[in-house]
Amino acid sequence: MNAGPGLELSGRTVVLVVTGGVAAYKSAELARLLVRDGARVHVVMTEAAGHFIGAATFQAITGEPVWSDLWDARMSNGMAHINLTRDAQLVLIAPATADSIARLAQGRADDLASTLCLARDASCALMVAPAMNRQMWEHAATVRNINMLRSDGAFVIGPASGEQACGELGPGRMVEAEELHDAVCAHFTPKVLAGRRVLITAGPTAETIDPVRVVTNLSSGRMGYALAREAARAGAEVTLVSGPTGLDCPHGTVRINVRSAAEMHSAVLARYQACDVFIAVAAVADYRPAAPSLRKIKKSADTLSIEMVRNPDILAEVAGRADAPFCVGFAAESHDLDGYAQAKRLSKKLPLVVGNLVADGLGGDENEVVLYDDAGRHPLQRASKPVLARAILAHLSRMLDR
Ligand code: PMT
Repeated sequence: MNAGPGLELSGRTVVLVVTGGVAAYKSAELARLLVRDGARVHVVMTEAAGHFIGAATFQAITGEPVWSDLWDARMSNGMAHINLTRDAQLVLIAPATADSIARLAQGRADDLASTLCLARDASCALMVAPAMNRQMWEHAATVRNINMLRSDGAFVIGPASGEQACGELGPGRMVEAEELHDAVCAHFTPKVLAGRRVLITAGPTAETIDPVRVVTNLSSGRMGYALAREAARAGAEVTLVSGPTGLDCPHGTVRINVRSAAEMHSAVLARYQACDVFIAVAAVADYRPAAPSLRKIKKSADTLSIEMVRNPDILAEVAGRADAPFCVGFAAESHDLDGYAQAKRLSKKLPLVVGNLVADGLGGDENEVVLYDDAGRHPLQRASKPVLARAILAHLSRMLDR
C-alpha cells in the first residue's frame, strides 16, 4: 500500500488519532494525503470517533488495521498502546476535541488514544489539531489545557476560524486536511533555511494589448510555487511575487499578486532589500506592447502589427545592485542549455543558475534541470517539481553556509 522511496514521507510512520468531532471526515482525506506521500499511517479511533466516521474508511485508505480498544488482542503481546508508537515518529490527533485535549493535559491513560500518547518516547512528536465550538475553544479551561500541552512540547496546529457545524461563527474549526498534511511535511523537513528570508518570483506575466487581450506565456507557476512551499517548510520566511496562475498560495508564505513585468519589477524592487536570497523563477515577458489600446482593437486589415518595447530585466537589475541578496536565476532554453545558461550566469553575475529545456520544464508537473555554479554543472535527475525544489534548495543552502 505504501508508496516507494523518494516521496516526501517515505520511511515515516504516523499514528493518526481520530477523536469524536464532525471534522473526523477531514481526517480521511488527511490519511490519504499522508499515504500518498509515502507515510505508513496507523489510525487509532476513540469510541466517540466511531459516531462520526467508520473504521472501514481508514482501513481502506491506509491499508492497515484500525485500532480503538485498549484491550485489543490482535497485537501479539496485547500491548497496542506501547507498540503503535514504537516505530512512529509522530502522533497526530485530528480532530482533537476539547475533552481529548483536557485528558492529554492531565496525563490520563484510560483508553487507547490517551495511553499511547503518554507511552510515547521522546523521539515521537505530538501534534494536535483542535476542533470544537468557539465557546469551548475560548473557555479558560481549554486555554489552560492548550497552554499545558504546548509547554509539554506538543505542536498545536490551528484551529481555523469560520462557520462551525453548530451554525456559529468563530475560532474552532479544524484546519483543512491539506494544511495539516503540509504541517506534517514541514515537521519532517530539515530546517536548512532557518532564519533566511527568501524572495521568489513565479509564473508568467501578462502584458496588456487592449482591455481584453494580453501577451503572456505557458508558465504554470508550478516550479516557483514548489520552491516557495519547500523553502517555507525548510524554515525560511518566504515572499512569493506571482504572475497570474491558478495555484493556491503555499502555506506559510506571503504572496503578492502581480500581472505585468512592470508590476513584478516594482514588487521585487520594493522587497529585495529585506531578503537574503532572491530566486527568479518567473517567465517574465521580455517585451510589452508600446502603447496598449484603451479600447478593444477591432478587426479590420488582414494583418496587425503591434510595436513592442523592452521590459526591465528584474533579475539583472537586482543582481547588479551593491546591496544585492544571493541571487539565483533560472534559464529556460529550447537548445544549447549549457551554453546559454552559463552565459546568463556570467552576464548577470549570478552565483547559481538553474537551467531547463522549455520542453522539459514549462507547464507540466515534472522537470529536468541542471545547476550551474562556479564549481561547474550539476545535473539533477528528472523528477517532480517539489522533489527538484528540495534538491535545488539543499544545493543553495550548502552554498549559503560556505
Ligand atoms: O512555471 P512552470 O510551468 O513550472 O515552468 C517553470 C519555468 C520553465 C518557467 C522555470 O523553470 C524557468 O525556467 N523560469 C525562467 C524562465 C525565463 O524567463 O527564463 P529566461 O532565460 O528568459 O530568463 C532568465 C532569468 O531572468 C530568469 O530567472 C527570469 O526570471 C529572469 N528575468 C527574465 C526577464 C526579465 N525581464 N526579468 C527577469 O527577472
